[in-house]
Amino acid sequence: MERGLILLVAALGVYVASGVQGTSYLSFSNNTQVNISQNGCGYTKLCVRTPGNCDPTGNTSCMFASVIASTPLAPNGSAMSFQLSGDSVGYIALGLTVNASQGTTMLFICAQNSSNNGSFFFQTVDQNNTNGALTPAERVTTEIWGIVNENVIKCEFTVPNMNSTTFSILLGTGNITDNGPSPFDISLNSGLLNLTNPASNVPTTAPPVTNTTVTNTTMANSIGAVQPHAVLLLLSVLTLSVMLRA
Ligand SMILES: *[C@@H]1O[C@H](CO)[C@@H](O)[C@H](O)[C@H]1NC(C)=O
Ligand SMILES: *[C@@H]1O[C@H](CO)[C@@H](O)[C@H](O)[C@H]1NC(C)=O
Ligand SMILES: *[C@@H]1O[C@H](CO)[C@@H](O)[C@H](O)[C@H]1NC(C)=O
Ligand SMILES: *[C@@H]1O[C@H](CO)[C@@H](O)[C@H](O)[C@H]1NC(C)=O
Ligand SMILES: *[C@@H]1O[C@H](CO)[C@@H](O)[C@H](O)[C@H]1NC(C)=O
Ligand SMILES: *[C@@H]1O[C@H](CO)[C@@H](O)[C@H](O)[C@H]1NC(C)=O
Ligand SMILES: *[C@@H]1O[C@H](CO)[C@@H](O)[C@H](O)[C@H]1NC(C)=O
Ligand SMILES: *[C@@H]1O[C@H](CO)[C@@H](O)[C@H](O)[C@H]1NC(C)=O
Ligand SMILES: *[C@@H]1O[C@H](CO)[C@@H](O)[C@H](O)[C@H]1NC(C)=O
Ligand SMILES: *[C@@H]1O[C@H](CO)[C@@H](O)[C@H](O)[C@H]1NC(C)=O
Ligand SMILES: *[C@@H]1O[C@H](CO)[C@@H](O)[C@H](O)[C@H]1NC(C)=O
Repeated sequence: MERGLILLVAALGVYVASGVQGTSYLSFSNNTQVNISQNGCGYTKLCVRTPGNCDPTGNTSCMFASVIASTPLAPNGSAMSFQLSGDSVGYIALGLTVNASQGTTMLFICAQNSSNNGSFFFQTVDQNNTNGALTPAERVTTEIWGIVNENVIKCEFTVPNMNSTTFSILLGTGNITDNGPSPFDISLNSGLLNLTNPASNVPTTAPPVTNTTVTNTTMANSIGAVQPHAVLLLLSVLTLSVMLRA
């Protein structure tokens, strides 16, 4: 049986203005699963993870996130549904930023409350990318679900009205202290991605060709485009080695 609470927030997370981090929750239930798998990655959802191609349902440590972002329909922004999974004694978080070394990062934190048997809680903060400082942020977030099992934290949440769909996704962890979340320790920076395109981080040089039958045109494109550089490189290496021998 799973230890930990599942939390469903039917409406919004609200920052408590006292300066202490906080999010108000509207209801609890404690016997549901949060299913986070890699099914559909690259096709129905955009996935980022570290290390490598790790599997969030596997039994090795894997920091994983997926997003399904709707195409914005004026006057509203894009609705984005996130899933996040990873290991931490404190929190795991997903950040959205346009440049991880300047400006701010919107940070969505899924955490366990170690002073309450590892119960789950959710929080939104902004990170100052220059000095790493975290400040509570009021950000409408809906459909928040989370579960903590040992040190594995899994959560889902939806941001209904994002004003942009191009972001770098940051994944990382941190601790929870008496003063709130400690600095965000980034383990992955995806680089800028089009979040509405599930395949935006799938290498375009490796299309999902399942059949070795390649048409002439494809051959011409894939080989023809690469060859001149390869030849030039080869020539320059040869030239260099000739010069070295001379
Ligand atoms: C999670 O997956 C299991 C097995 O596939 C399924 O029975 C269950 O209904 C799913 N739960 C949710 C909340 O989707
Ligand atoms: C992963 O789980 C499988 C099946 O439960 C088990 O056989 C294997 O030893 C586990 N691996 C690790 C690294 O825990
Ligand atoms: C924009 O959002 C509002 C409030 O959620 C909703 O009532 C409206 O239908 C949305 N408009 C479009 C075009 O999606
Ligand atoms: C990000 O910000 C740094 C520091 O301000 C700047 O040097 C860099 O060019 C920026 N990167 C992008 C992709 O804008
Ligand atoms: C914490 O968990 C332990 C064992 O699972 C239980 O005995 C204890 O009552 C729990 N405490 C709280 C505050 O839920
Ligand atoms: C971020 O921190 C830097 C350095 O402390 C400060 O100059 C800047 O004003 C801060 N930015 C924001 C948005 O708070
Ligand atoms: C999105 O909205 C936030 C808050 O209103 C603003 O700070 C930010 O610059 C906006 N981003 C874009 C890309 O418009
Ligand atoms: C969290 O705290 C533990 C022990 O206090 C420490 O080992 C770990 O490095 C901290 N993690 C982060 C991300 O600060
Ligand atoms: C993002 O991806 C969507 C879906 O593939 C596409 O329609 C849209 O034009 C892309 N946007 C940008 C800025 O590339
Ligand atoms: C590749 O495509 C050809 C023609 O469409 C088909 O006959 C063949 O079975 C396919 N091979 C595989 C492995 O799918
Ligand atoms: C395509 O391949 C066929 C058979 O290998 C060859 O006869 C034909 O000339 C090729 N077409 C082009 C455009 O290279």
